[in-house]
Amino acid sequence: MKATARANVNIALVKYWGKRNKKLILPYNSSISMTCDGLFTITTVEFSDKYNRDIIVINDEELKVEEDKSPSPPFAAARVKDEKDVLGHLERIRQTAGIKEKVKVVSQSNFPVAAGLASSASGLAAITVAAAKAAGSNLDQKELSILARQGSGSACRSIFGGFVEWLRGEKEDGSDSYAVQIAPPEHWLEFRLIVTILSEEKKKVGSRAGMAQTVETCPYYENWLKTVNQDLEIIRKGILNKDFTSVGSRAEHNCLKMHALMITTSPAIIYWRPETLKIVQNILGWREGGLECYFTIDAGPQIKIICLEKDVPELKKRLQALKDVKKIIVCRPGEGTKLIDEHLF
Ligand code: PMV
Repeated sequence: MKATARANVNIALVKYWGKRNKKLILPYNSSISMTCDGLFTITTVEFSDKYNRDIIVINDEELKVEEDKSPSPPFAAARVKDEKDVLGHLERIRQTAGIKEKVKVVSQSNFPVAAGLASSASGLAAITVAAAKAAGSNLDQKELSILARQGSGSACRSIFGGFVEWLRGEKEDGSDSYAVQIAPPEHWLEFRLIVTILSEEKKKVGSRAGMAQTVETCPYYENWLKTVNQDLEIIRKGILNKDFTSVGSRAEHNCLKMHALMITTSPAIIYWRPETLKIVQNILGWREGGLECYFTIDAGPQIKIICLEKDVPELKKRLQALKDVKKIIVCRPGEGTKLIDEHLF
């Protein structure tokens, strides 16, 4: 009853920010992402009666819900809940499989977690695929995507490789809210996302608490929902036609709209750091000078540059010359979550 999965992170080109059902994690809008080769989580799960309690070790740290020292309200309660949800997710998988054994989970990511790099996406996708297999459930990719979604929304997209859309769905029970592949990694081999790490500090407001607060208090949320379908259409079409300008420019616009929501939430959620804005201004300048690249930013300070393979050497050179850039990771379209034979314990 042991299995190991490897899941890549995904970075959204059309963002998900807000749930219409918090328990089932049903989003207000569909979203589109690229699964990224090179930023991944490997997770081994074992259900066994040799364990007398659940043991969860994430990046060498054992998860202890009670000891969480979260920041001030209103985010504190939700942050504790974020961590309990990993346990809740394992319980859900146990119930689906009809088993009772305690579980040991060891999970390792090759990038800083909780710094706005979609760690929950790869983490929850890897746990879902490894745990479902270890529990003896035989689920197809759609079922795995539905299950992963209930652990962390964006995780449902990491089940698939390449370019992926998470369909919002209409049903109350969430059975039509899952990810589908728009195009496999081979479809657009020249497409790149350059992840620049500016700060490895753990963010103070998790996405779950932040988006709930936005839905509740942001005066522009309705407008976001009114415009997002057009973004989806343009980016979906752009991916299929390999139209870089239209994908890049619309993704950047969609990201800025999401950050406008965050900034106008009460209390304000500002994930950007001064370094973030400096890089944004650099990118705008480079583009004006003829180097076509765009940016996207998630729930953290890191910048992800959208570009084509041919411009990677020049962009790397320019980024490396900036003192705020601590690390650069170049991602090509990657594969979906896979079971692997090498266990972590
Ligand atoms: O699934 P979560 O709770 O990690 O939320 C993801 C939120 C964003 O990364 C900001 C947007 C997205 O669609 O990935």
